[in-house]
Amino acid sequence: MLALTLFTLFTHLACANAYVWPSPQLDALEALRFDLDSHPILQFIDPCDTFNFGPNGDTSISGRSNIADWIRTSYHDMATHNAAAGTGGMDASIRFPEELARDENVGTGFNNTLNILFPIVNRYVSIADALTLGTIIAIENCNGPQIAFRGGRIDAVSPNAPGVPEPQQDLSAHISAFARQGFSQKEMIGLIACGHSFGGVQHVPFPQIVPELDDPNNTQSVSHFDSTFVTFDNNVATEYISGRTKNPLVVGHNDTTNSDKRIFGSDGNVTMKAFATSPTLFASTCATLFTKMFNSVPKGVKLTDVIAPLPVKPDNVQLVLNNDTLRLTGEVRLWNAKEDPTRTVRLFYADHASTAYKHNVTLKSAGVTNGGRGITAAWYTFSPFVPINASKGIGRMRFVVDGKVEDQGGVGFVLRDDVVLSGTSCLTNSDTSNLAGRLDVAVRTGTNPTRIFLEHEVLTNFNPPRIVETDIPRPAKPSNATHAPYTIWSLNFTNNMDGFTSSTLGVEMGGVKSAILGKIELFGFPPCT
Ligand code: HEM
Ligand SMILES: *[C@@H]1O[C@H](CO)[C@@H](O)[C@H](O)[C@H]1NC(C)=O
Ligand SMILES: *[C@@H]1O[C@H](CO)[C@@H](O)[C@H](O)[C@H]1NC(C)=O
Ligand SMILES: *[C@@H]1O[C@H](CO)[C@@H](O)[C@H](O)[C@H]1NC(C)=O
Ligand SMILES: *[C@@H]1O[C@H](CO)[C@@H](O)[C@H](O)[C@H]1NC(C)=O
Ligand SMILES: *[C@@H]1O[C@H](CO)[C@@H](O)[C@H](O)[C@H]1NC(C)=O
Ligand SMILES: *[C@@H]1O[C@H](CO)[C@@H](O)[C@H](O)[C@H]1NC(C)=O
Ligand SMILES: *[C@@H]1O[C@H](CO)[C@@H](O)[C@H](O)[C@H]1NC(C)=O
Ligand SMILES: *[C@@H]1O[C@H](CO)[C@@H](O)[C@H](O)[C@H]1NC(C)=O
Ligand SMILES: *[C@@H]1O[C@H](CO)[C@@H](O)[C@H](O)[C@H]1NC(C)=O
Repeated sequence: MLALTLFTLFTHLACANAYVWPSPQLDALEALRFDLDSHPILQFIDPCDTFNFGPNGDTSISGRSNIADWIRTSYHDMATHNAAAGTGGMDASIRFPEELARDENVGTGFNNTLNILFPIVNRYVSIADALTLGTIIAIENCNGPQIAFRGGRIDAVSPNAPGVPEPQQDLSAHISAFARQGFSQKEMIGLIACGHSFGGVQHVPFPQIVPELDDPNNTQSVSHFDSTFVTFDNNVATEYISGRTKNPLVVGHNDTTNSDKRIFGSDGNVTMKAFATSPTLFASTCATLFTKMFNSVPKGVKLTDVIAPLPVKPDNVQLVLNNDTLRLTGEVRLWNAKEDPTRTVRLFYADHASTAYKHNVTLKSAGVTNGGRGITAAWYTFSPFVPINASKGIGRMRFVVDGKVEDQGGVGFVLRDDVVLSGTSCLTNSDTSNLAGRLDVAVRTGTNPTRIFLEHEVLTNFNPPRIVETDIPRPAKPSNATHAPYTIWSLNFTNNMDGFTSSTLGVEMGGVKSAILGKIELFGFPPCT
């Protein structure tokens, strides 16, 4: 009895950080954090010396790296933080032309970073979260320490007050700027050393600090902070302490702009000596300080818990009504699992109004993907689909992996079958520049939504996405679905649905709006007959 109680307790503790699927925002953040195969960011930092100006930009120039730009962009975004007032911080205010035009933000690295990161921004991933995520993945992939990621940053709607330190300022100005940001003098030394493990000073924005170099391998004339400027390590400290450093903010010809020299020496070199002696101390200190930097947000912003990988995570899940059958498509990811032909993964599901997992199917292996740091994830697909009796419906599912039940601590993986896409949706014009047709949504008998609508994301570079809703009209005389307890709501569309060929379904019930899992892709509809 005691053993059983302890076992239950530990099982719950082990799950303490994981959230319960589905959660649109956490699912999106978790995927961007851990699903690294064909990740939209990885191509820009792997290998670590990758530099391309913008997503399709010039790759022939050298001396710079995307990773250095991202770390500097993150710091400059955070550096407007006023910890006492609770203003500024990691809020993507760096994107505003007014901030970019300030002397404290000289250089093209900020625009470059924002352009590259934009593809991962969506309604669940703010620009500030995307910047944070990209920077964390970059640091981790380029030999840096693991950094705990929390999401939920909110993008500023206007520029923040200035406040990024500049190299010609004196030590007391730097100490007070970091104090305002919430960092002690010792933390200031640490955070700058951590940041200046990457990159360097470019001639073009800082001609008074560094010279033009005649080096075909460094066309941007960047004087680097240490000899290993695209990877994380403590060379910034060892080279400084040994007197070999070429850091242009330590040994620059004009002492006025030698800010790293003043700052690193400001505690008699105690902190830098400790970093030079211990790579592990340097790495763990940087993990702490980078985390603090990323989590310095305006007051009122509530960050999520640390995003941990879900041990078992359904993905791309969708229900579509076809005659008397609900077709369940999707896949499930087993975290930290290798390819194993002997593994059996079964999906069990319960009827709409039941918690008894009466039905089961065996899932097919769909290979493994990279989760980072040597971890792989094994995928199992519902392909082509799991057929569900539409009269009985589906309430929740769970998985059994080699006999072990995976049900999120008993709650199961809850699905909603009350509002689903209907397979009767069709195209009257399949010309991809001018799709027209009818979108049908099936509403389960006994449910009565206030509204059903499509949600389209409008993405514009340098701005958070805007959501446009298109209502699907409530039918005056509801028509019944064939052979299933559903009525059909329809929307006739023309002209590629005004350009919104890909969207999601939303429903409002009892004053609460929620998103229905699965994308609606007009291109996939069959011809109307
Ligand atoms: C007193 C504080 C600081 C001063 C005066 C300072 C100054 C500078 C200057 C002048 C540059 C050259 C930028 C360019 O040429 O584009 C630079 C680059 C950089 N800084 Fe700082 N910095 C400070 C703190 C930090 C902090 C706290 C971080 C990160 C945690 C950081 C990260 C970087 C990175 C990664 C680069 C390289 C950018 C690249 O190579 O594209 N800096 N810094
Ligand atoms: C950054 O991009 C904005 C918007 O595209 C542009 O107005 C600005 O000139 C760019 N700044 C730099 C320094 O490239
Ligand atoms: C440039 O890099 C290449 C390849 O790493 C090297 O062979 C060459 O010597 C370098 N050139 C200069 C001028 O440093
Ligand atoms: C050193 O830098 C400061 C700040 O940029 C500048 O005012 C000063 O003229 C420079 N001194 C020399 C000798 O170049
Ligand atoms: C810190 O160390 C550097 C390199 O050894 C040295 O040049 C400098 O004088 C030291 N600064 C202080 C304040 O001890
Ligand atoms: C649905 O049922 C009709 C007959 O009632 C049949 O013609 C049609 O092929 C069925 N559709 C599917 C997708 O099974
Ligand atoms: C799984 O479903 C099959 C029928 O499809 C049934 O025979 C079998 O007993 C079920 N297995 C379990 C463990 O419920
Ligand atoms: C679906 O479920 C209903 C209600 O339980 C039942 O009457 C019907 O026979 C089932 N259909 C099939 C194809 O099993
Ligand atoms: C739809 O089905 C319900 C109950 O099955 C029935 O009462 C109603 O008349 C049907 N409506 C139409 C338009 O067929
Ligand atoms: C959609 O178009 C069809 C045929 O043109 C028409 O009969 C139907 O009433 C339209 N439906 C809606 C909801 O507008």
